[in-house]
Amino acid sequence: MSEGTESAYVPKGVDLEKPNAARTYDWYLGGTTNWAVDREFGKQVLQVMPSLQKVVRANREFLRRAVRYCMAQGVRQFLDIGSGVPTVRNVHEVADELDPNSRCVYVDNEPVAVAHGRVLLERHGDPKRHAMLNADLLNVEDLWEQAMGTGVLDPDEPIAMLIVAVLHFMPPGEGAEEAVARYKDLLPRGSYLVASHATNHDVPADRAAEAAVAEEQYKRANTPIGFRTRDQFSAFFEGWEPVDPGVVWVPEWHLDDIDSEVASEWADNPSESCCFVGAARKP
Ligand SMILES: C[S@@+](CC[C@H](N)C(=O)[O-])C[C@H]1O[C@@H](n2cnc3c(N)ncnc32)[C@H](O)[C@@H]1O
Repeated sequence: MSEGTESAYVPKGVDLEKPNAARTYDWYLGGTTNWAVDREFGKQVLQVMPSLQKVVRANREFLRRAVRYCMAQGVRQFLDIGSGVPTVRNVHEVADELDPNSRCVYVDNEPVAVAHGRVLLERHGDPKRHAMLNADLLNVEDLWEQAMGTGVLDPDEPIAMLIVAVLHFMPPGEGAEEAVARYKDLLPRGSYLVASHATNHDVPADRAAEAAVAEEQYKRANTPIGFRTRDQFSAFFEGWEPVDPGVVWVPEWHLDDIDSEVASEWADNPSESCCFVGAARKP
């Protein structure tokens, strides 16, 4: 696995004494935007939950499948909240493969992810079609104003709002439910909500035990996690038309020949993935 780079640009205000979920996630995926503190933390988590790396990769595959699904439904605009450190084959790259006029606004509240996202887009993006914002999912009005202020997204055309592997960083009671409901109000008709969520509910007992230890570990990072049940996760989609097959385990969602390698390994025991996914369309 990659060892990251200590010389990478560190934006002001970034605490490199504490591990961070965005950078640790990047390390799990084999990226290089992480520091010793993140890698050390990641190694400790993998010791208690060795399957996590596979979970993370299966989640990333889902993100790409979901982008292609939305494109197939005619959606050409993406609002990727909690987009993370840019890593190989990001949302705009997957979308551009299908339509070079597609648009994408990335959002994250982790300064390293934002700084690296901006560098990536400066080099390989199109400022008319791509942007990277520093904003907080929970601060809806600010995020929405910034996102629409980029001019990248047309508020009258459907937008796919991606909130993938993010909501478990906002356990129930911290405002995520209210925030997502507000975005659903703001988004135009025909928009999609796509989300995934880590869980230790309804999973095999050994996975549940591992996930509970990993949850404890994450309390040491500056981004603790909190699991939701299937019902709690499903509630985010309420009122919108569910995309078949509804809220399911990640290996059960629209597998294809392009981005399903990891998920396919769990075809016979999907709950091993510890990851719920789903999508819905605004009527
Ligand atoms: C596990 S990564 C997921 C990255 C990407 N969505 C994916 O699935 O590959 C979670 C990201 O959510 C970001 N995040 C966590 N809480 C957030 C918040 N309140 N607002 C915006 N981003 C947040 C983290 O900084 C991190 O980059």
